[in-house]
Amino acid sequence: MRSAFEKRINEEAAQKISEFFNLLWNFLGSCYQRDILEIGCGFPADLERYAGLAKYRKHKFFCVDPDESKIHSLKTYIQKRGLVRFIKAQIGVCEDLKFSSKYFDAVLAFNTYTHLANLHQSLGEIRRVLKPGGLFFFNDAYQELSGEHVSTGHINNYKSVLVRRIIKIFNFKIKYFYCFESEGEEYWYIIGRRDKEKDQKLPEKCNEFI
Ligand SMILES: C[S@@+](CC[C@H](N)C(=O)[O-])C[C@H]1O[C@@H](n2cnc3c(N)ncnc32)[C@H](O)[C@@H]1O
Repeated sequence: MRSAFEKRINEEAAQKISEFFNLLWNFLGSCYQRDILEIGCGFPADLERYAGLAKYRKHKFFCVDPDESKIHSLKTYIQKRGLVRFIKAQIGVCEDLKFSSKYFDAVLAFNTYTHLANLHQSLGEIRRVLKPGGLFFFNDAYQELSGEHVSTGHINNYKSVLVRRIIKIFNFKIKYFYCFESEGEEYWYIIGRRDKEKDQKLPEKCNEFI
C-alpha cells in the first residue's frame, strides 16, 4: 500500500528521490570502512538495510538524537539484531556533536533540518566533523508553519533555494539538488561535498545571509 507521501508524488519526483537514495547506497557500496553519522535517527527498517551493507563493507554508523526514548529503543533493537559492532546510538544534539573534527566520511540528516534549534551551529558542527571531501546527505520539506507544525517541533522553515545557498556558504559544493512542490509543500534533496580546499570563515549567524 502506498504511503500518504507516496500518493503526493509523481513519477519524475519518485525517480529523483530514488536517485538521491541510490547515490547514498552506491557510495556505501563502493568503499570500505567508512564512518557515517546520522543526525535525527531513522527507522529500524532503514538501519537494518544499512547494517547489511555496513557488515559487508565494514562501515560504522553513529546515530545521534536528543530523544531519550528513541535512543533507548534503537539500542535495544541494535542489541537484539547483533548490530552493536556496526551501529552506535547515542543521545545528543547536532548543535554540539561529541566527535573529533574531520572524523566522518558522510553525514546524513533526513527530515531533521526543520527540528534543529540552532541551524547555524548545527551546520557548523556538521562541517567540522566531516572530513574534507566528505558528503552531506540532506533532505526535508518546506511548509507554512501552522500551529500543528510548531507544536510538533518544527522550527526552521526555509525554501530549498535558501537551504542550498546556506549549504554553499558553509563550504559545501552542491553535488545533487532536487526539489518539487505538492499540495503547498516543497520537498528538497541535497547532497553537498565538504570543500577540500577552502576553510573560509563562517558567518556569525545564519540570518547574515538570508
Ligand atoms: C521527523 S524526525 C526524522 C527521523 C528520521 N531521520 C526519518 O527521516 O524518519 C526528526 C528527528 O530529529 C530529532 N531532533 C530534534 N532536534 C534535534 C537536534 N537538535 N539534533 C539532532 N536531532 C534532533 C528528533 O528527535 C527526531 O528524531
